[in-house]
Amino acid sequence: MDDSGHWLAAKHMQAYALEATTAYRVGAAAEGWVERFNDDYVVSGKTAEARAALAEGLHAWATSTGAAVGRIFARDLPLQPSERDVPELLSGDAQASRQTVVTEGAMRCGIDFSGGYSTGLFLDQRHNRALVRRVKPRRLLNCFAYTCSFSSAAALGGGQTVSVDLSARALERGRGNFRENGIDPAKHRFLAQDVLEALPPMLERDERFDMVILDPPTFSRGSRGQSFHVERDLEPLLGAALELCAPGGRVLLSTNANRMDDRDLEGIARRSLRQQHRAADLYREPLLVPVLAGHVAHTLWLNLR
Ligand SMILES: C[S@@+](CC[C@H](N)C(=O)[O-])C[C@H]1O[C@@H](n2cnc3c(N)ncnc32)[C@H](O)[C@@H]1O
Repeated sequence: MDDSGHWLAAKHMQAYALEATTAYRVGAAAEGWVERFNDDYVVSGKTAEARAALAEGLHAWATSTGAAVGRIFARDLPLQPSERDVPELLSGDAQASRQTVVTEGAMRCGIDFSGGYSTGLFLDQRHNRALVRRVKPRRLLNCFAYTCSFSSAAALGGGQTVSVDLSARALERGRGNFRENGIDPAKHRFLAQDVLEALPPMLERDERFDMVILDPPTFSRGSRGQSFHVERDLEPLLGAALELCAPGGRVLLSTNANRMDDRDLEGIARRSLRQQHRAADLYREPLLVPVLAGHVAHTLWLNLR
């Protein structure tokens, strides 16, 4: 990808409008990308120069497509998670609320531009959430649930959901997202726990799910100092997920880790399946707008037989 980047074609923007999707990537370049949340935008770039070039590209894109531009926020993409900061306002109304609600088709999701480094919805998982909405799992286990967007997608299809995340605050936003979608959060389970500790009791109780989402961060530290390293912990975690997944069910494996790619995910999947004596078709859901591929999570579905 060259420095000027790729920008969403007007026909795709119109298609999003028709399906009532108001949050999506509008541009991507070698050093970052731009995302739209209603008429506000977040520019994510590795350097100040990259952010400036992307903001310029955003204005040119908006002029050519007729897209409205409200506020523009910008955030750095540091290598170290500890250096991540909330997006800063580059232009637009500083007094307007930093919270808004976007839609992804029939699904609503709360966004908070001041709530942390991430706004509340990972747009590079849109195609996988669309698969959840299509498949309508009856029982979904969402590990590393964050604001529970995968859970909302399943609950909208009538599924029972269990959302696990270390962060009680993220799960509270998840409950808010359920209410935003007219779903009673009291009828679903939200576990503010380390995934590595939450799964063994489910195995002991012989619980089964039709879909398990495994979309962990690259590294994290739990409340009692225990660490999670995706390269070390994803494979054993998949083993537990496979045990919890009913025949005919599906597991989503996903990672943003720089050092892992599609082949690593396939290797982890094949080894775990062998160890668990399970068979599955490996499947990759295509990106809905391929032109903006790049800077997206590596993902792989295991469709169990
Ligand atoms: C990359 S986000 C997950 C995004 C989510 N799958 C989505 O699509 O919205 C990572 C989340 O994992 C949570 N987390 C990190 N380590 C964890 C652990 N060991 N157990 C449970 N949750 C964890 C964080 O609090 C954060 O909300």
